[in-house]
Amino acid sequence: MIGIASDHAGYLLKEAIKKHLEKRGDEFRDFGCDSEASVDYPVYGKKVAEAIVKGDCEKGILICGTGIGISIAANKVKGIRAAVCGDCYSAEATRLHNDANILAMGARVVGEGLAEKIVDTFLDTPFSGEEKHARRIGMIEEDVC
Ligand code: RB5
Repeated sequence: MIGIASDHAGYLLKEAIKKHLEKRGDEFRDFGCDSEASVDYPVYGKKVAEAIVKGDCEKGILICGTGIGISIAANKVKGIRAAVCGDCYSAEATRLHNDANILAMGARVVGEGLAEKIVDTFLDTPFSGEEKHARRIGMIEEDVC
């Protein structure tokens, strides 16, 4: 299950990405928002982050104007590794190296076509499982650095 959410700035791209997920055959749950009326992005970042930590969703997709604010909010939740990606190289690397569990994108940064490719790359790339990457993720989780 993929949790997806956006603020008002990301609403239209969220709707497009939902259609893309349907085409891919991915199950998703929409945590809002429901229109282009102004809302506060931390609310939506936290909703998806908490669903992942609770185990209701495996991965998340968050969209705001830049992808930055909503990812900062999500990353406040322990166990969340949200990565802002505006290209496929970053989306692949953050899965391979960081085992990122949330993809954040900026609707004012990426177009629909690129966003769909970034989503595909993020969802279809597994964590490398390499010891050095697992160790570094553990350092973040345990706050030992
Ligand atoms: C909303 O105008 C905008 O600030 C928000 O979508 C996001 O870009 C914040 O980081």
